[in-house]
Amino acid sequence: MLIYGKEVSANTRAALAEDVKGFVGKYGRKPCLAVIIVGEDPASQTYVRNKIKGCAEVGMASLSYEYGADTPQSEIAAKLKELAADPCVDGILVQLPLPAGFDEKYLLSLIPDAKDVDGFSPTNMGLLAMNAPRTISCTPFGVMKLLASTGQPLAGKRAVVIGRSNTVGKPMAMLLLNADCTVTVCHSKTENLAAIAREADILVAAIGKPKFVTADMVKEGATVIDVGINRVDGKLVGDVDFENVKDKAAYITPVPGGVGPMTITMLLCNTLQAAENAEESAKA
Ligand code: GUN
Repeated sequence: MLIYGKEVSANTRAALAEDVKGFVGKYGRKPCLAVIIVGEDPASQTYVRNKIKGCAEVGMASLSYEYGADTPQSEIAAKLKELAADPCVDGILVQLPLPAGFDEKYLLSLIPDAKDVDGFSPTNMGLLAMNAPRTISCTPFGVMKLLASTGQPLAGKRAVVIGRSNTVGKPMAMLLLNADCTVTVCHSKTENLAAIAREADILVAAIGKPKFVTADMVKEGATVIDVGINRVDGKLVGDVDFENVKDKAAYITPVPGGVGPMTITMLLCNTLQAAENAEESAKA
């Protein structure tokens, strides 16, 4: 069975648009997301455009700042400090990856935890690790919503995450662990990766290698989540060999139309949450 991310995403956005209306009615302003993009990576430009479009779609405000790859880092840092101090801005996002020469860790450290709608800050990652999450990073958060949409219980299941990035693999593993799965994280140095993957009831592929997960790596009846977005000859291809794996999996996400549409939706959810938190803490 296919897991239709597009559909789950559309339903989530429709509910979110209602919640945004409620927020505007209550506080007399729109939640606002500020996005910074540096350089001219076409994939990043598309993502940023869709983030801005997504804000408008659910009734939120947005600000976007585009910088050339030759911009001094201090100029971007100054903008981040300004946005950090601006009470009209609820969420700040720096599109990654940054071009070579920029200090990603430093620039991201200028985003206050309360405005870190990506959930990338050490505090937000730490709270997730302690099973007391505040802001959950968007892609793994979206995957959890997709898993929930299948109606299957997660507790006690064997979950295998392929990939250990700070943005997807690690928070994904923590979320699955918090949901009482037994979690294994595999990566480029893992020995016997195929044998480990075959034990998975829930297999999450987030390694950025087209069609890496082949049918022999998947247990009959497993749920397969494909986080990969690879461009091969101008076509989008996931990390899973979909055509061959689909007959073995009980549930599988397609690429495109699976995990992808959920990421921006969860970003919008995180932005509304940040705005609500800001209003609540202003009252306190
Ligand atoms: N680049 C690819 N995915 C993401 C994301 O979720 N957030 C940010 N900031 N950059 C990204």
